[in-house]
Amino acid sequence: MSEGAIESVLQEKRWFAPPPTFAAKARIGSYEAYRALYDRSREDPIAFWEEQAAQELAWFERWHTVLDWQPPQAKWFEGGRLNVSHNCLDRHLGTWRRNKAAIVWEGEPGDSRTLTYGQLHREVCQMANVLKQLGVQKGDVVGIYLPMIPEAAIAMLACARLGAPHSVVFGGFSAEALRDRLNDAQAKVLITADGGWRKDAVVPLKDQADKALAGVPSVQHVLVVRRAAQPVTMVPGRDSWWHDLQAGAAGQCPAEPCASEDVLFVLYTSGSTGKPKGVVHTTAGYNLYAHMTTQWVFDLRDEDVYWCTADVGWITGHSYIVYGPLSNGATVVMYEGAPRPTNPGCFWDIIEKYGVTIFYTAPTAIRAFLKAGEHFPRARDLSSLRLLGTVGEPINPEAWMWYHHVIGGGRCPIVDTWWQTETGGILISALPGAIATKPGSAALPLPGIFPQVVDLNGHPVGVNEGGYLTVTHPWPGMMRTVFGDPERFRRSYWEHIPPCDGQYFYFAGDGARQDEDGYFWVMGRVDDVINAAGHRLGTMEIESALVSHPAVAEAAVVGKPDPLKGEDICAFVILAEGQTPNEALVQALKDHVVQEIGAIARPGDIRFAPALPKTRSGKIVRRLLRALAAGSDFSGDLSTLEDRSVLDRLREEV
Ligand code: PRX
Repeated sequence: MSEGAIESVLQEKRWFAPPPTFAAKARIGSYEAYRALYDRSREDPIAFWEEQAAQELAWFERWHTVLDWQPPQAKWFEGGRLNVSHNCLDRHLGTWRRNKAAIVWEGEPGDSRTLTYGQLHREVCQMANVLKQLGVQKGDVVGIYLPMIPEAAIAMLACARLGAPHSVVFGGFSAEALRDRLNDAQAKVLITADGGWRKDAVVPLKDQADKALAGVPSVQHVLVVRRAAQPVTMVPGRDSWWHDLQAGAAGQCPAEPCASEDVLFVLYTSGSTGKPKGVVHTTAGYNLYAHMTTQWVFDLRDEDVYWCTADVGWITGHSYIVYGPLSNGATVVMYEGAPRPTNPGCFWDIIEKYGVTIFYTAPTAIRAFLKAGEHFPRARDLSSLRLLGTVGEPINPEAWMWYHHVIGGGRCPIVDTWWQTETGGILISALPGAIATKPGSAALPLPGIFPQVVDLNGHPVGVNEGGYLTVTHPWPGMMRTVFGDPERFRRSYWEHIPPCDGQYFYFAGDGARQDEDGYFWVMGRVDDVINAAGHRLGTMEIESALVSHPAVAEAAVVGKPDPLKGEDICAFVILAEGQTPNEALVQALKDHVVQEIGAIARPGDIRFAPALPKTRSGKIVRRLLRALAAGSDFSGDLSTLEDRSVLDRLREEV
């Protein structure tokens, strides 16, 4: 991490008040109501969380200590016992929700399934019994490598029911990536499928799993879901079909009373270098935090049809497809596929088909929709939507405006939610009935969250000055450790900004500024900051200026070594449909950035790119573009790339 402050150059003055009709019905319906809740949490965070825990979760035994904080180790609700699958399922069964749709699933080829809370409970119990038969006990890690099918949620909840931590590995990961994660977690059982649909083809998951398992001695049993009618090799004594074992399993299985700090799951997250970190989340704090933030941010009501387009292989899928919504008794749409050339409008078809009311997706998807054009969403009835959300990257204001007008019909608030795998749930977001939104800003902290933008010494920076985005007080959903490596946990998150006067700073890796209204503007990863002629510039602001030009669909900027300025700004630009690259456009884009931001942000080098290198969760991998700009080789971990062929195309064409 380099020294010095980050300069902020973005000038975004548009803002949108919560629509009065939305606010009138919202759970938190005014700024004053948000402020009262927030102030209460600040005055006494312990009492605040204790109240939420008592009101919102079902417990088998009450805790004796709300928070035991020995930095960087937090323990929440010690002494308490509960079960997350009980909170997500059993407690709804005694109510009318027993027959409410819990999961409405759409397969990529167009098949579909609905599971009510009653049905989901039964399937989860059966699977928990199957896992028990296979010898899974409390504390044993179960690997899950599945497509986006209901069995993914069933498997997660079945593990939670037994107190067996799950480790979900995204179905798009390779055999090597799966092997490393299963080995690190010492998984005992793996749940996979014969295959899964992805972009009109079947991904042979079982084949990948077999390759991985050749190097994973800890896995003793494999359960295989039949999804894609793929021929597979079943290893006798190790492999069983999910449906065979489930058919013989009882539909009742008591939920194991877990201690509050029992591990609920391990989820691997990769930085740009080094081996992936197993982020550990525990039972009570995570359940409470996912539950509360789903309620606050999505203003969830029983009549909503809620759809988050993430994959369960990511934290967004854990917190906001499975645990948060089900703990609240919501109806959740789950989709196996993704927009693809043969069906670029599939998201809008699903919104129309199921009457989706809340839609949560990623900026990378929004930019792809923007590039594909308005005619796809305009061809569908999206009038059921009442709230939109984004997560995963800073959203460029122009993409935000497009989302607002074209998808939200100008009537839906947009919640831009800032958080991480490590934080367990959303930390900063507008509450849609209470807080005005500004395109490109994640807005304000949620109750119980105390973020601060500081310099490297932990001193708060001034209004509109860029700095390091930190969190200064523990919260229930925070990660507890790196699996098997507590030292790495301390080093990675708690030492960049040294403790100061007894104050510890969780540093998240992002640069940000706070404006005159206290709104947070995330400026990108500090590792990506560009140092041009003594100015440290975040990537998001320059990229947003480029995207605000009508010819541009997407942009990524990086620093490129320059003998004079230290670094020059190099921009990789994806043009909007129908635009052609030419010299005049290069000049026009440079002028546009100067006009939007100023001469300090003028890109010295603009390159038209066929595509950008992205992780499988859709984040731009700027370090590879930096290598390209500098003319050096691509190095570091390439296994998290969505499409490695993009690198060859970039080399050839850019
Ligand atoms: O850089 C921030 C960016 O995504 C990072 C966390 O990534 P991951 O652990 O994969 O979790 C993604 C889902 C929460 C953050 O450090 N990020 C996430 N949301 C936003 C964001 N950047 C800006 N605005 C956001 N809303």
